[in-house]
Amino acid sequence: MNTQKKAKSARAGNNRPAGIRYLRAMDQILEQIRQYTTEINAFDSHAPEQLESFRIRFLGTKGIVKNLMGEMKNVPADQRKEFGQVLNSFKQAAQDKYDSLRAAGSTDAAPSMAGIDWSLPGDPVPVGSRHPVTLMRNRIVSIFQRLGFAVAEGPEIEDDWHNFTALNLAENHPARDMQDTFYLSRNPDWLLRTHTSNVQIREMEKGKLPIRIICPGRVYRNETVSARSHCFFHQVEGLYIDEQVSFADLKQTLYYFVKEMFGEDVRIRFRPSYFPFTEPSAEMDISCLLCKGEGCSVCKRTGWLEILGCGMVHPQVLENCGIDSGRYNGFAFGMGIERPALLKYGIKDIRLFSENDLRFLEQFTSAI
Ligand code: DAH
Repeated sequence: MNTQKKAKSARAGNNRPAGIRYLRAMDQILEQIRQYTTEINAFDSHAPEQLESFRIRFLGTKGIVKNLMGEMKNVPADQRKEFGQVLNSFKQAAQDKYDSLRAAGSTDAAPSMAGIDWSLPGDPVPVGSRHPVTLMRNRIVSIFQRLGFAVAEGPEIEDDWHNFTALNLAENHPARDMQDTFYLSRNPDWLLRTHTSNVQIREMEKGKLPIRIICPGRVYRNETVSARSHCFFHQVEGLYIDEQVSFADLKQTLYYFVKEMFGEDVRIRFRPSYFPFTEPSAEMDISCLLCKGEGCSVCKRTGWLEILGCGMVHPQVLENCGIDSGRYNGFAFGMGIERPALLKYGIKDIRLFSENDLRFLEQFTSAI
């Protein structure tokens, strides 16, 4: 070794015995532990990411504590115990800090219930109400369901066959005048249905007999809108097809319906009428709900209110749908929903039903 090199290694302590050299290094380690301890004491965040970095830095598998433990083997035997104790309490300090901040963080996540006045009234939740036409429809349907009728529905955009021709309303039939409607310019064979009778045809065409259905739905007519009529409204139609159905069955079914709907003391009457799809046909009136048959402005002084059309299904209509009219027959009826709803709720103008004014609509909560 030349003199220069000797001087350098003496400064670095290389010529000292190994134990003394290590004692110097240990002083440094202990100093570092003191600095780390200050860092641990100062750490005060329970934000999950920062807490996790803390854990990795001090307690992780490649962390500071593990690193210092690795130094143990270099420590002179007589000082190992003391160094071990220092390391253990250092490790414990890091672990305690981590545990306490983690616990504080998790209670923070649950909102505190303290300071809440449980006796305060809650925020009101606005509850909607059903449309008066829906209420009336549901009521009508549920009465017929109790008699064993099933609900059937069909399209509002219909072809000429199902809305007119199959129902004996041939192309130039004068009865079509009463049911003028809106036609689709893309295909003049398509129209907005004028009644729910199209559903009768569609059900009969399926060929599954007997049939006992009730058909609620929206219908359209090309009419000037006024307080009494609108270009769209709602109907419920009924159809019963079986062997040996009689007009008495029709009367009894409708009588039951009226009593359930309007009360025990309401009377009914049938007037002969004409519909191309029924023979014989009738219109059914009920005694006026307002004047009880005495005569008033609502019933135009007659004491009666017309509520539906009905009749025995025309044999040709059955044949149009592929049903053997020699074996099967049946009855049908159809009624508007708006008219009884106007009566029931004492509403004077049919247009109110479709104006969507919440002040009007909110007033209805039950059908009867
Ligand atoms: N479809 C008729 C109309 O809209 C109502 C009607 C009358 C339906 C007699 C029927 C019926 O099923 O038999 O004016």
